This record gives sequence, C-alpha cells and structure tokens, in this order.
Amino acid sequence: MFDLGTTLRCMLGHSFDKSKEGYVNLLLKNASGKRHGDDKLMVAARKAFLDKGFYATLRERIAEALGTDKTVLDSGCGEGYYTSRFADNNKVLGIDISKDALKYAAKRCPNVDFAVASVGQIPLADGSVDAVLNIFAPDSPTEFCRVLNADGRLITVQPMENHLFELKAAIYDNPYKNPPLELQKTGFTLCATKEVKYKIALESNEDILSLFKMTPYYYKTSKSDQQKLNDINSLAVSLEFLITEYTKK
Ligand SMILES: C[S@@+](CC[C@H](N)C(=O)[O-])C[C@H]1O[C@@H](n2cnc3c(N)ncnc32)[C@H](O)[C@@H]1O
Repeated sequence: MFDLGTTLRCMLGHSFDKSKEGYVNLLLKNASGKRHGDDKLMVAARKAFLDKGFYATLRERIAEALGTDKTVLDSGCGEGYYTSRFADNNKVLGIDISKDALKYAAKRCPNVDFAVASVGQIPLADGSVDAVLNIFAPDSPTEFCRVLNADGRLITVQPMENHLFELKAAIYDNPYKNPPLELQKTGFTLCATKEVKYKIALESNEDILSLFKMTPYYYKTSKSDQQKLNDINSLAVSLEFLITEYTKK
C-alpha cells in the first residue's frame, strides 16, 4: 500500500489521494473530528528548533547506529528532521499520525514515501523492512515486529533522567527528573545501548520558547508558569538521550 502514484487503492476498494506536498493520508476521519497527533504549533516549534542544529549530534549517532543500504521505517517521523539524514543512503518510509507534521516532512524529504497512519496499524507488509526507527514516538512492539524481516533491527531513542532539566527548573517550583527507562520489549532482544549526553547554550528567547513548545510540557503547564520563560534570553540545557538497538526474537 506504500507505492505512491497519485492515487492508491486498497484491496477493499478504498482510494487515497496523494497530497500536493507528496504524502498520502491513510487515516479515515474520526467521528469526533478531533485532530490527530502533534498540532501545528508543536510541529512548527520542533522544526524551528531542530533546524538550528541543537540535536545534530544525536542525529549523527542515530545514523551511525542505523548504517546504510537498508529499507527503513521511521515510525512517528514528525517533520522529518531525522528522516532526511537517513534518506540519501537508505530507502526510507515515514509514517506519522499528524498531517501537519507530514506536510513539512514531505517538503523536506522528496526521496521518502510518507503516509499519515498510526503506529498501531502500520501500512506495510509483514517482514518488509530491515530497520524500524522510533525516535521519541509512541511504541508499538507488535507492529514493529510484524513489519521487520527476520534479521531486522528496532532502534529507539528516548530521553534519559536529566534531559531538559534546566528548562523544567526555569518553569516549575519542583522540577522532577524523568523516570528511569524500561528497556525490555516484548518480541525483541536488547542488543546495545548508547548514551548521548551534552549541554547546549540557548542564546535567545525564541530558541528557549521553541524548545518549550516542542515538548508536551508547554501544553500541560498553566498560563502563569508558561510566562516564566518570557523574560529569559539565555539558558544552558542538558540533553540526555538513550539510543537502544533491538533484534527480533
Ligand atoms: C515527540 S514527536 C517526535 C517526532 C520525530 N520522531 C522527532 O523526533 O522529531 C512524536 C511524534 O509521534 C506522532 N504520533 C503520536 N501518536 C502517534 C500514533 N499513534 N501513530 C503515529 N504517530 C504518532 C506525533 O504526531 C509526533 O509527530
């Protein structure tokens, strides 16, 4: 179902048009009319922040873990910042539940096939990819297992305990660390982990607000707490990521 002409047709006869940006929307409208996934504000903030290169080191470490010449699914690919790095040396497919995210992703990566779809129902055949990337996106071990071939690898990226701690400390009276990560995954064998830790210096209010707005914290924080960042123009922030590699059992 991922062979993109201008229209796709499934075995049940449903047809799905390719958008002008180049992605295809495989989600049927939900009854409530509620939007899916990250919204415009969050996606625009993530694009603005990532385009400044603050996560470039992480992106390189993921590229090293992935390697080249593979068929790769970037699951929950967002606006394609990471996807674009892997697409020159691999055959890459991207899915995300957010149409707003894929509008950017499809423009950024003309050599990638993108579909608006859920990680709970990945529109790929069994055993059709060599690697699945899950970078800060929802988990779906059963589906990841299904679409990976027998030698396939799952690569995940998650925030570690002190990730963004200084940002939280600037907003909340009692900032908390992230909980320790649970690494065991049904259907997979844990093969390797790599910690990526560094500090970035944010030197403008715009960058600080973009970072805040690309995280779920912004959306869960009261207006009065949100405003605490308005007068801050520089902030050193800890980044702590864990890259984990799994093989299929
Ligand atoms: C934190 S963002 C990460 C995006 C991208 N991987 C990155 O790191 O820049 C999580 C992404 O998962 C997407 N998402 C949330 N629920 C999803 C689902 N059920 N199926 C597919 N994507 C989903 C969101 O729309 C969002 O783009």
